[in-house]
Amino acid sequence: MKIFLDSADASQIKFWSGQGILDGVTTNPLVLQRDGVTDPERALAELARLAAPGVFHAEVTHAGGQQLIAEARELAALADNVAIKVPVITPEGESCLAEISELTRAGVVVNTTACLTLGQVVLAAKAGARYISVLVGRVDDEGGNGAEVLEKARIWLDRWGYDSELIAASVRGTADVMRSIDAGAHCVTVPPAILAKLADHKFSRHTVREFLDAAAATKAS
Ligand code: E4P
Repeated sequence: MKIFLDSADASQIKFWSGQGILDGVTTNPLVLQRDGVTDPERALAELARLAAPGVFHAEVTHAGGQQLIAEARELAALADNVAIKVPVITPEGESCLAEISELTRAGVVVNTTACLTLGQVVLAAKAGARYISVLVGRVDDEGGNGAEVLEKARIWLDRWGYDSELIAASVRGTADVMRSIDAGAHCVTVPPAILAKLADHKFSRHTVREFLDAAAATKAS
């Protein structure tokens, strides 16, 4: 299972890369805004470099059509490790599957994002997406069950032999990460604060304190 960091914060990417657990980094325009990016093109190139050899996911900012295709090609040319996030539909509900399919056929690694339903996952896989992001937190926000969408999607991909990888995205806490693992996500993308919580446990702290105190007492005796 792959772990991506959902962040555009260079210091967090360096820190978590240094922990040896990252398979890549995901961003989107909201993440860039939240992390204070002011010059996206320059920042994306730098973040892609920091994410290497992992995959760096950069999202298009055009809603569809040839402008989306041109932007995706430009972003893909930033570095060898870049995957392009393309929303499954426009804000008006028009399909972006043609763009996803064209980019995939041209050799661009596509991550179809903003997927909230099994139907969208099925269509994204048919269009050739390498990665499919299921925004589990946003499914849950609307009273749905993000983990159930992931689970059914994984069963469908395996049953029909599609090699698209499901990314559990929009995770709101450590429980979402656990549910995504159980549901069979190939990858989970996690904000830095949640990754830190995954590593921590108050009784692990207590246990390590006991070990260190015993070691110190043994040396002193
Ligand atoms: C990552 O690929 C997604 O774009 C991101 O996790 C979405 O998170 P949000 O639903 O909290 O905005």
